[in-house]
Amino acid sequence: MNVDSTRADEFAHLIAYLRDARGFDAAPFTPGVLAARIDARVAATGADGYADYVDYLEVHPDEFRPLFDAILLNVTAFFRDPETFACLREVVLPGLLAGQRSGEPIRVWSAGCASGEECYSVAMLLADAIGLDDYGARVKIYATDVDEGQLAIARAATYPDERMADVPDALRARYFDREPGGWRAKNTLRRRVFFGRHDLRDDAPISRVDLLVCRNTLLYFNLDAQRRIAGRFRFALRDGGYLVLGRAETLRVGGHAFSTQDPASHVFVKDAGRDTATGPVGDRTRLAVVTLSEALRIETWSTGAARMLGIATDRALGRTLAEAGIDSEELGAALTRLVTGAASEADLDLDVQSPNGAPIRIHAVPIGGTPRRLVLVVQAAGGPTP
Ligand SMILES: C[S@@+](CC[C@H](N)C(=O)[O-])C[C@H]1O[C@@H](n2cnc3c(N)ncnc32)[C@H](O)[C@@H]1O
Repeated sequence: MNVDSTRADEFAHLIAYLRDARGFDAAPFTPGVLAARIDARVAATGADGYADYVDYLEVHPDEFRPLFDAILLNVTAFFRDPETFACLREVVLPGLLAGQRSGEPIRVWSAGCASGEECYSVAMLLADAIGLDDYGARVKIYATDVDEGQLAIARAATYPDERMADVPDALRARYFDREPGGWRAKNTLRRRVFFGRHDLRDDAPISRVDLLVCRNTLLYFNLDAQRRIAGRFRFALRDGGYLVLGRAETLRVGGHAFSTQDPASHVFVKDAGRDTATGPVGDRTRLAVVTLSEALRIETWSTGAARMLGIATDRALGRTLAEAGIDSEELGAALTRLVTGAASEADLDLDVQSPNGAPIRIHAVPIGGTPRRLVLVVQAAGGPTP
């Protein structure tokens, strides 16, 4: 065996170890970049290659923190991982809002919020989606961290120019004021964000949460702690509520009550049916969502939606609804009108039959510009209207 292939094998073993020990997902990184960041830690610890570094991690669990700091680079940033925030704006928030009655409170928990960039990013997206009046009346964002120093920066909400570089100009103009030392989030945005010290390992979770954002934080805990935290997240979220993790994080343990909404963006939906023992999932899941591309092909789905529609989840990606077994000409024509912008309706409701004959109601909402994509909120017919 030559030296290069031994090194590649040892690197693959290290990545598998990080996945098994911490739920680390290497997929978003190019191998060369990931290797360079890990190499810096291998050198700093004096380990003799990747295999030796795995041995080192096994006996020095404190090394996980500097390792993940090195891999993730930043403590935090506004709109960190733009694809995740695009998914929040285009899929999660429309789905969340479509599942709510008008005026109903919207509760968000940003856990491990660091110096506040993450919770203010979510706040801006929400204020943009529903308008500042509704934001002021309906939204509560609980932003927590174990580090009081970080929380003090977050409460002050003033960021220097270089930290503001990731905030689009239009959002900065709408939600920030120029102040000595940088830009300060306007009171209209800040007053719905409530900061508090909270230790994810020990403290009781916030309850009745619609959207829980916990990014680049779980990785730092071992699997036992991750399992306990996932249980608290399950308790915190309403049925059908969304959990958003960092792009290098997976629910390695405790994920049985969640279905994957968007694998690329690491968005999960709390699935009531996995949590309790009786009754079909669709009847009790508050919200079951499918998203369709501009070509009306299935992009993402929640398990509740797949079950109600009778879609085999291993064969759903990239298929049309007709190919997945929902053979309704009326539905196909209506969705085409919506996605091409030919319909005058802003959204529509249609009753169709699932492949197993059950009546279901589909609420379709277009998102994005042209061409548009669609969010379908799926419910057992006769259930509450979104
Ligand atoms: C890498 S930062 C992530 C910040 C932000 N979520 C993001 O993705 O941009 C991790 C944060 O987790 C916080 N943290 C670490 N241990 C924690 C714990 N036991 N409970 C709550 N927060 C914790 C740290 O203080 C830090 O602010």
